[in-house]
Formats: sequence, C-alpha cells, structure tokens
Amino acid sequence: MTSKPRSSRKTTRSINPMWGGRFAAGPDRLMEKINASIAFDKRLYRQDITASKAHCAMLVGQKIIARKDGAAIAAGLDRVLEEIERDRFVFKTELEDIHLNVEARLAELIGPAAGRLHTARSRNDQVATDVRLWVRDAIDATDAALRDLQRALIEKAERHAATVMPGFTHLQPAQPVTLGHHFLAYVEMIGRDRGRFADARRRLNECPLGAAALAGTSFPIDRRRTAAALGFDRPAANSLDAVSDRDFALEFLSASAIAAVHLSRLAEELVLWCTPQFGFVGLPDSFTTGSSIMPQKKNPDAAELVRGKTGRVLGALLGLLTVIKGLPLTYSKDMQEDKEPVFDAADTIAIAIAAMTGMVSALTVDAARLRAAADVGFVTATDLADWLVRVLAMPFRKAHHVTGTLVRLAEERGVDLARLPLAEMQRVEPGITRDVFRVLTVERAVASRVSEGGTAPVRVRAACRRARRRFL
Ligand code: ARG
Repeated sequence: MTSKPRSSRKTTRSINPMWGGRFAAGPDRLMEKINASIAFDKRLYRQDITASKAHCAMLVGQKIIARKDGAAIAAGLDRVLEEIERDRFVFKTELEDIHLNVEARLAELIGPAAGRLHTARSRNDQVATDVRLWVRDAIDATDAALRDLQRALIEKAERHAATVMPGFTHLQPAQPVTLGHHFLAYVEMIGRDRGRFADARRRLNECPLGAAALAGTSFPIDRRRTAAALGFDRPAANSLDAVSDRDFALEFLSASAIAAVHLSRLAEELVLWCTPQFGFVGLPDSFTTGSSIMPQKKNPDAAELVRGKTGRVLGALLGLLTVIKGLPLTYSKDMQEDKEPVFDAADTIAIAIAAMTGMVSALTVDAARLRAAADVGFVTATDLADWLVRVLAMPFRKAHHVTGTLVRLAEERGVDLARLPLAEMQRVEPGITRDVFRVLTVERAVASRVSEGGTAPVRVRAACRRARRRFL
C-alpha cells in the first residue's frame, strides 16, 4: 500500500523570499514551525539593528556600498527599531528569525537598497554578534543587581556585627559566630560570582562580525571598525571559531548557575530561619504569602522560589552544553537552541537576585532568639579545649578528649558547660581553675576570634568597611 507524502499542497507554505532562489517548493508547515525562532529571538532586535548599523557604516566607509544606500539603510533601520519599540512591528513566522524579519521590513521601507546590507555578512556572524551583545548586556545587568544584593547584605552585616548566634557545621551547633559575619560570607560568595561574570565578559568581548558564513569574505571589510563601533575589544581571530563558538553563552550560564546555587543556599537559610522552630528572622508580609486553608500561615514563598528557580538555571546550562557537545565546525542550526536557555536563565537570575535583595533588606532579626540559640549545644567546647591547651599546656588532642568528657557530663546533668560546677570539672582534670569560666560565655568566645577573617565583632566591622571598598 502506498501512502501520500504528509506534505501535501495544503500544508506547504510559500517559498522564503530571503533565500528561496534555488527552491521550487515552500517549506512544510511543520518545517516552518520547527525552523522558526522569531517567537523568542525577537528579543535580539536592538542588538541586531545596532550591529547592522555598524556593519552598514563600515561598508560605506570601505566604499563597498554607496553612501546614499548606506544612509537609506541606516535611516530605515532606525524606523524599524522605532516600529518594534512602539509595538507597531508585525513579526512573521515565515521569515524565520529576527534577522530576516528586520531585513524584510527594511526592504519594504526603503526598497532594493536594503538588499545591500547583507553584503560581506552572513546570518552566522550576524547571530553570533547579536547574541554576544545581548549576553554582554545581561552580564552588566546581573553585575549591577548582584552589587545591590551585596549592599543589602553589608548593611545588615554592619547592623549585626556583634549579634551573637550559633554557627553550624552539619547543621549542628558548632561555635558561636555573629550574624554580621554570616551575612558577609554571602558577600564573598557573590563577589566571586561577579568575578566569574567579569571574566566571562572579558573573553566574550570579541567581535564575530566579518567572519561571514564561516570563511571570511573577499570584500575589503574593516573588522576593527565594526568591532570598535560595537564596543568589542577586537575582532575574533578565527572566522570558523567566530561563527561556531558559543562559549560565551556557556560561560554566562555557568556563572549564572553558580550564582543561582549561592542564592539558593541563602534562600534555604531564610526558609529555615523563619520557621517558629528557628525563629532567627522574620520575613515581611510583602515577601510572604498566606494559605488558603490554614489561617495562621505565613509562607516564605519568595525564598522558596529563589531556591526552586535554581533548577531552571542549572537546566539551561546543562541543556546548552548538550546542544553544543556534538557539533562539528562550524555553524549548525542546533545553535539556534542557544537562545531560550540564555534568555530564561537571564530572566530567572534577575528576578531571583531582585527578590533576594528585597528579602534581605526587609527581613527582621530576632537578636534575643539568636542569642538564646547560641546557648544550646555546648558551642563553647572548643574554647574550653583551647583554654586547656593555653593554660595547662595540654596537647590539643588530649584537651579535645578531656573537653568531650566534660560535655558528656554537662549533657547528663542537663546544664551548659558554663554551669558545670568547678569541683566536677576538676574530678575530670585537676588542673582546671575558676579562670576557665572566663572563656565559656558565647560573647567571650566570639570576641576572642580575632584572627584574620574571624568572627570577632571588631573583625566583622573592619570586614564591612573593606567590603564596601571592594564591592560597592
Ligand atoms: N536563527 C538562526 C540562529 O539563531 C540564525 C542563523 C541562521 N543561519 C543559517 N545558516 N541558517 O541560529
């Protein structure tokens, strides 16, 4: 039995006017659907027009096209930009992508001269340029947003430089720290995130324009001129690499992924800390939601979503790595799949950073509760062991063991180390004197940790001042 091919006349579209010369039939409806990127790459319109104007000016400067045509093209592109920004532009799926949509409209506006814009250029170097410009803007926006978050954290750290709380390892009480110190830990993490974005930006900032389809061009172009006009440091060195490289997108996504993971960790702490069980912080009504059934609820949805949205950003990175991994040089249409993950990750990281900044600025701290929590879990045990080392010249391992015995004793009696009677301590280690109680308060423990990068309030205050200089 023979069956008719699926693409009967009814499902076939008209031939693409931009590249259809060698085609006798238009694409199947499904071909058009799978091929078109305009639904998402219209977000590149500004970068596309900016790059086209730079290319056009270079073509004129090199006398590759006539000054008159160049002027018409530039004016036409300005009009296209205006139409798009005023929402007067009709994006057409049959024109595939932003590049062909802009060029086709330009032709409607200025006539055949529009056809000269694509001299010495291909959509391959065009799209590589547009996406680089877009990612560069996204990096700059992300950096500014991360700086705002650092500012919010530093402000909170300044206010809570001496607010004592339990520090945790394994989420078990470990040693007392200050809340300011804790916030500054995130300032460092975000500082490294910004460093990764800055590194990515430095490597990204080479211009693919002039690589044309893959091999360069026989026209006497000036790649330095277009690179400079678009704020790039230099033209990309190898034309094959220029059109097939998506490292800049991968680097943006990997920097975003690590930043999202950092945001997620902070979000997780806020979720934990605002439970009645912890009660360390309160989130404002403005960043929480109620329950439709349980009237008492105030849920930290924004923090949960910052944590949850991390999955999208990690997915974007993994998705694009997977797209690129099997591609031979140079351009393959697979690369069209670079845009959605990049856009989605950029949008996601932007809302996550902004929401986190809002939450950090607005959260309230229950200092009494933090202080009380620091009295639980024998968090000054290390200070006791250090005292044995310092005053009794005990080797640290032995001091550790003696202190462990004292902790067990205190636990059995249901008291804190500071409330263990001296006589009982001396039964375990006769050398212990009343002097030991000086180091057993959490305030003392915190104040004593003056080593560089330590949690003592004097250190935290100095670290806040330095952080302002380094990051803001
Ligand atoms: N829309 C395409 C993309 O995003 C533009 C480049 C098309 N190049 C080509 N040779 N078909 O990748």
